[in-house]
This record gives sequence, C-alpha cells and structure tokens, in this order.
Amino acid sequence: MPTNNATTRSILITGATGGIGAELAKRYARPGRTLILWGRNAERLTEVAALCCARGAAVITRQVDLTDGKAALDALFEDDTRAPLDVLILGAGLSDIKAASATTEDPNKVLQLALVNYTLPVTLATAAAQRMITRGHGKIAFIGSVAGFYELPFAASYSSSKSGLACFAEAARLDWGRHNIKVTLIVPGFVDTPMSRRLKGARPFLVSAGSAARQIIHAVATSQAEYVFPWQFRVLRVVERLLPQFIRKKILLSLKADQE
Ligand SMILES: NC(=O)c1ccc[n+]([C@@H]2O[C@H](COP(=O)([O-])OP(=O)(O)OC[C@H]3O[C@@H](n4cnc5c(N)ncnc54)[C@H](OP(=O)(O)O)[C@@H]3O)[C@@H](O)[C@H]2O)c1
Repeated sequence: MPTNNATTRSILITGATGGIGAELAKRYARPGRTLILWGRNAERLTEVAALCCARGAAVITRQVDLTDGKAALDALFEDDTRAPLDVLILGAGLSDIKAASATTEDPNKVLQLALVNYTLPVTLATAAAQRMITRGHGKIAFIGSVAGFYELPFAASYSSSKSGLACFAEAARLDWGRHNIKVTLIVPGFVDTPMSRRLKGARPFLVSAGSAARQIIHAVATSQAEYVFPWQFRVLRVVERLLPQFIRKKILLSLKADQE
C-alpha cells in the first residue's frame, strides 16, 4: 500500500506540544486518521489534542520525556501496536547557546540535547522502520536545522546534533529505501516558535510555524530526501560551499549569538 496523504491513517509526532509540532498536528488532523501526539507538557498536549479531535481525528496523547530513552522506545513499540504507523515525524528538539561569560556549554545541557536531538530520533526511527519494513511501507521525517550545515562555535552541541541527524537520515534513506520506507530530512531556517523567540537578536528570513508546517507536510507527502526552507538558506548553502575554508572559519568565529 503506498503511503500518501489520502492513505495515511496513523501519524506519530514527537514534539507535538511545540511550535512546529502543534501546527503539524492540527494540519494533519482529519476524520479517518489517528494522531499519536508526544510531548512533556500535559496541559499543552490536551490543548493540541482537543483541536485535532475537533477536526475529526482520533487522538492518542503520551507524556514522554525523551531523555528516558528506554521508556520512549517501549512507548514507540506500544503505540505502533495500537495504531500501526504510516508516518513518524521526529520533531522534538532542544536548542542551547553557550553563555557569553562561559568557556564551554553546560555539560548537563549537552547531555540532554544530545539525547533529545540525536540519540532518541535515530533510535525511534530505527524502531519504527523495523516495524514499517515488515508492513511494506512507511515514512519517517527528521526535523534537522540549517545550523547542521555549520560548525557553530557558540552552539557546538546543537549544530553537531543536527548535522549528525542529517548524516543518519541520508544513510537510513539509502538503506530503508530498498524496503519502501521513505526518509525525509527537514531543514528549517528560523521559524517563529518558542525556541527561536529565546534567541536575542535578528532571526533572518523568519517564517511562521504555520508556513513551516505546510511546507513540511508537502515535503513528506512528496517523499523529498531533503527539504531546506526558506529558499534563502538554499542559496546561502550554495554560496557557502564556494568559500575557501580559512574564510569560512573566520566567519564562523566572528558570529555572535545569545539567548534569554
Ligand atoms: N524554531 C526554529 O527556528 C527552528 C529552526 C530550525 C530547526 N528547528 C527544529 O524544529 C523542531 C521543533 O522546534 P520548535 O521550534 O517547534 O521548538 P519548540 O516550540 O521549543 O518545541 C520543542 C518541542 O520539543 C519537545 N521537547 C523538548 N525536550 C523534550 C524532552 N526532553 N522530551 C520530550 N520532548 C521534548 C517540547 O516538548 P514540551 O514543550 O512538552 O517539553 C516541544 O514539543 C526542533 O527539532 C528544532 O530543533 C527549529
């Protein structure tokens, strides 16, 4: 059975309580579809679930902390048994920026970030792919970031978690594609959500969470390998690849960022 918008019956979204995840949930909600919404914030989960139910979807919510890897893996298998997944969207994420006064990032935050942004997405994707392969179809989308294109000195853990995710997504796409599992890497620039609102300073080429969700749904529906948005970051990527390494390093070292 192909996995397109019309035949997608069951979708699991991690980070469904977040700016992008909640918009995705609302836009995916429709009669005949089961949405499995994961997040930590119970109140927000209930709020998003109510909106999705009002649009006719069946909704299962689950409070999951992705820093507890084993519990999350068990939950994935349990939810897939209840409502075999057609689509898995791995949207949960954490960002962090080294404080201007610090020599390094906080190791405890680095641990959390690595679990939520890299370890759990690749673990859950692997678990879902195993089940999807036996059923003969499925789609998995990772939400990366344009930060993964750059070795950001002030956000080493964030940028490397996203570049690791990109590498995994490509390898998995090649491997699982042989079993009709479509893998999409979503690569957003700045999206207007609580995550980017914590940043101090400019958010160039900012897009709304609604616009991001619309583009993500289209990229997944059309099984794109990698979808970078907004388009300005696609142009920057080409320009940046033409730069000599020493100039690239100078630019990276000169970048400044801070957060609330
Ligand atoms: N906003 C941007 O500018 C931007 C740009 C590029 C990429 N992205 C990526 O897009 C994705 C969604 O980000 P967003 O902008 O929607 O951010 P957001 O509004 O801050 O939402 C983050 C989501 O991740 C969940 N999460 C965080 N830590 C978790 C944990 N330990 N266990 C379970 N869930 C956890 C949050 O759940 P709770 O709130 O329930 O804790 C929330 O649902 C992330 O992967 C992010 O890296 C965002």
